[in-house]
Amino acid sequence: MSMEVNKAFAALLLAGILFMVTGILGDALVHPKRLEQSVLQIAAAPAAQAPAAAPAAAAIEPIGPLLAAANPQNGQTIAQRQCAACHSFNQGGRNGVGPNLWSIVGAPHAHAEGFNYSAVIAGMKATPWDYEELNKFIAAPRAYAPGTRMAFNGIASASQRADLIAYLRSLATEPKPLP
Ligand code: HEC
Repeated sequence: MSMEVNKAFAALLLAGILFMVTGILGDALVHPKRLEQSVLQIAAAPAAQAPAAAPAAAAIEPIGPLLAAANPQNGQTIAQRQCAACHSFNQGGRNGVGPNLWSIVGAPHAHAEGFNYSAVIAGMKATPWDYEELNKFIAAPRAYAPGTRMAFNGIASASQRADLIAYLRSLATEPKPLP
């Protein structure tokens, strides 16, 4: 009889010890040593530097010096691959998802009759599409014209942009002089 009672106590004791041990272990797992700096702050740090990085991103390599040696044939290939889904390039060509681009160099922003431009592009009608304006737009359409309807990410390579703009320049009865 007392043997049974002893067993019962032993079992209780064991249960108590186990309870304590799991408690300590659990505590160690759930409350790890506090980090010196919260993870959130570390993650937020690069974002805080974003304003400083933005002007650097806006500093797009000028295209003027590259145009003389640019390759309009390669530009045509790029245009067929990356722009032709939305734009036509021939004289009198129809507007598609985007406006026809015949004679775009030197033309005002929102140059195509009857095309439904975004407010931001329509609002720049006083500014001609010179080489550098085209360069900035094609490099990063949304950064150049926030709210533009042109759903295109941009072309990062300055030499590709130069080839493409040299091709756009050729789409005219009298191509504009090189800068
Ligand atoms: C997904 C469709 C799409 C693609 C791809 C696209 N565009 Fe556009 N593009 C548009 C739209 C839509 C507009 C009108 C933008 C607005 O109103 O904000 C536009 C406007 C333009 C304009 C301004 C025309 C004007 O009359 O002011 C130029 C220049 C232009 N695109 C060049 C290009 C070039 C070059 C490429 C290829 C590298 C290209 N686009 C790729 C849809 C596109």
